[in-house]
Amino acid sequence: MSQGNIESVLRETRTFAPPSPPPGAPWHISSIEEYRAKWKRSIEDPEGFWGEAAKGLHWFTPWSRVLEWNLPDAKWFVGGTTNICFNAVDRQVEAGLGGQAAIIWEGEPSGPAGPEVRRLTYADLQRETARLGSALKGLGVKKGEVVTIYMGMVPELAIAMLACARIGAVHSVIFGGFSSQAIVDRVLDAHSRVIITCDGAWRRGKVVPLKENVDAACSALKGQGHEVSAVVTLKRCGNAVTWTPGRDHDYAALTRGASETCPCAPMDSEDMLFLLYTSGSTGKPKGIVHTTGGYMVHMWLTSKHVFNLHPGAGQVFWCTADCGWVTGHSYIVYGILPNRVPSVMYEGAPNFPAEDRFWEIIARHKVTQFYTAPTAIRAFMKWGDQHPARHDLSSLQVLGSVGEPINPEAWMWYRRHIGRERCPIVDTWWQTETGGHMITPLPGATPTKPGSCTLPYFGVDAAIVDETGRELPHTTGGLLVIRKPWPSMLRGIHGDRQRYLDTYWSRVKGMYLAGDGAHRDKDGYFWIMGRIDDVINVSGHRLGTMEVESALVSHPAVAEAAVVGMPHEIKGTGIAAFVTLRPAHNPHDRAAAELLKKTLGEHVSREIGAIARPDMIRFTDVLPKTRSGKIMRRLLRAIASGEEKITQDTTTLEDFSILAKLREQDEA
Ligand code: WTA
Repeated sequence: MSQGNIESVLRETRTFAPPSPPPGAPWHISSIEEYRAKWKRSIEDPEGFWGEAAKGLHWFTPWSRVLEWNLPDAKWFVGGTTNICFNAVDRQVEAGLGGQAAIIWEGEPSGPAGPEVRRLTYADLQRETARLGSALKGLGVKKGEVVTIYMGMVPELAIAMLACARIGAVHSVIFGGFSSQAIVDRVLDAHSRVIITCDGAWRRGKVVPLKENVDAACSALKGQGHEVSAVVTLKRCGNAVTWTPGRDHDYAALTRGASETCPCAPMDSEDMLFLLYTSGSTGKPKGIVHTTGGYMVHMWLTSKHVFNLHPGAGQVFWCTADCGWVTGHSYIVYGILPNRVPSVMYEGAPNFPAEDRFWEIIARHKVTQFYTAPTAIRAFMKWGDQHPARHDLSSLQVLGSVGEPINPEAWMWYRRHIGRERCPIVDTWWQTETGGHMITPLPGATPTKPGSCTLPYFGVDAAIVDETGRELPHTTGGLLVIRKPWPSMLRGIHGDRQRYLDTYWSRVKGMYLAGDGAHRDKDGYFWIMGRIDDVINVSGHRLGTMEVESALVSHPAVAEAAVVGMPHEIKGTGIAAFVTLRPAHNPHDRAAAELLKKTLGEHVSREIGAIARPDMIRFTDVLPKTRSGKIMRRLLRAIASGEEKITQDTTTLEDFSILAKLREQDEA
C-alpha cells in the first residue's frame, strides 16, 4: 500500500435512493442537485459559504476575515471572538430554553427497576460548567493551560470538557481504557498540571480503577520531574481509592462550594480548544491541536446537515462513541449541543447485561439519530438478529457509521435490521485531524451505496492523487488528499512543527495527506481502502504499530517485535505480533510458549490498554528486514493474513529463508 496506485478489489453495485423525510423533520438538503449546486458554490467561494454559515452561531465580536491561508497554516474567522460552551449551553438558557434536555445519560448497572437515568438540562449544564470552571480557576488553572481529563462515560466528562472551554483552558481527554503509561506520556507532552478523573468506571459489570491509574501515573511523572498539582476525583463507583492530601480533591465537595458565576471567556477564534492524542507511525502519539471558531462552525453545520437535526422537533441523538475519541468530542458534545437536540450518553458496554442493551436504549429514549461504528455492527450481526427484532426501533430516522470502512454486508444488515429499510445510512469519513465530517452522504440528498462514504461535504475539496499530486482517473486507487483548507482542520501537532509538516504536507506537495488509500467509482463516489502508513485501525481506533511494538519490547523476554494488522471477523483488523525473544527466555515446550504469549498479551494490556492486546503472537528467530534494517511489514502482513504465496516484491529482503521460517511458526 505504499505506492500511489492501489488495486481495488471491492465491487458493489447496489444503490439506494434517499427516502422521504421523517414527519416534522424535513431534509435540510433534499436533492442531489441541491447538494451539487451548494457544494460547487462552497468550493468556488469558501469564504462566502462559511462566513454565512458562521452567522448561525453567537460571536462576541465579529471576524474581520473568514480565512487566512498560508499553506499549511489556516486561520478561520480571523479576529472574531466567541466561546463554544456559550454556544452549546448558555445561548439556549438565554433564549429561555434552559429547561430543555441537553444530555440524557444512562448508567451501565441495571437492576429490576432498570438503569439509572439522568437528564441534564441546559440550565443544569450552565450551572455545573460554571461551578467546575470556578473550581478550576481556584486551583490556579489559567487560560490556555492544558487540563487532562481521564474519566468514564459520565455526564461530568462532558461537563469537564465544557467547563474547560468555558474558562478558556485547553482540554486533553484520555480514553478511560488506556493505561497509566498513556497518561504519563500525554501529561508530559502537554505539560499538564491538573487532572480530572473518577474513582472508577463501569465496564461490563466490572470497575476499571481510573484513580489508581492516575496515582500510578503521578508517581511516575514525579520520577521524571513533573509535578501534578491537583487531581479532582468524581466518585462514581465507590471503589476504594487512596488520597494524597494537598493534591487530591473530591469533585462533589469542590464544585458544591464553587461560585455559579463564571462567565464564558471570550476566546479568539484561533485560541486552542483542545488537544487530542492520536496514533502516528512512530512511537510517540501526536497531540492534535484544534482551535475554537472554525471547529465550532464545522461541528455545528455538519451535525445539522448530516444527521438532519431540527431543534424542537422531538429528536434525540445518540452517538455510541466514548468521549475519549474525536467522535465523542465532535458528535456527542460540540456538534450536537449547539443544535439544541438532546445528546444521549451511555456509560457502558453494548452487551451488558445482555446483547440487546443498545436496542433497549433506543426504545427507552426514542432515539432518532443513531451513530455507531462498523466494529459494533459486526458484533451485533454475530450476536444475532433476534436482539434488535425484540425492540421497538420505529423512532429511528437516520443511521450513521464512522471509524473504518464498513463492509457492504454489515451496511446491508444495519439497513435491514436496525433501519428496517426505512432509514438512510450516513457513512461518514473523517479523522481526528479533520475535526469533523469530510466525505459523507447527506441523508435526504445522496443516493447511497453500501461501503462507500459517497461525496465530499460542503467546502471539502477531496481528491485521489498519485505521489506527484496528479489527480487520478476515476476507478484508479491512490492517495486521499484534501486540496483546500476547511474550518475544523488541525492547526498542528502540539510541540512538533516538523512532524506536522512531514506527516501531512510533505509527501504530496501543497495538499493535506489523509494517510488513507481510496478510489472513486464512475459516479465519483469515494471508497476508502484503508491506511497507507503503519497505523492499524482496530475496532475503529487508530493504533500506531510502533506503540504496540514498544510495549512488547519493554517486556524483559522480548528482544524485538514487529506488529501488523490482520483480518479479524469482529474488529475488522486485528493485531498480529511477530516477536523475537531474548535467548534466556526461549520457551522449552509448547505449554511454556503459550504461557509466555499470554503474559505478553497481558503486558501490552497493562502498558497501553486492552485495545492494543495482540490477537496473535508468533515467536520467530528473525524478522524480515531490508538491507537498511527496516522491517518489511508488508511481508508480515501477508503472512499474518494467511496468504499462501507471497506475491510481493521481495528483492530488498535481506535473508530469503526467513519467509519460510516465519510461516512454519505456530500460531497463538
Ligand atoms: C478511518 C475517527 C472508512 C480512516 C473519526 C481514517 C474511515 C481513520 C471512516 C481516522 C469511514 C474513519 N470509512 N474509513 N467512514 N471513518 N475511517 O482519527 O482510515 O480515529 O483515516 O477518526 O479512520 O481515525 P480517527
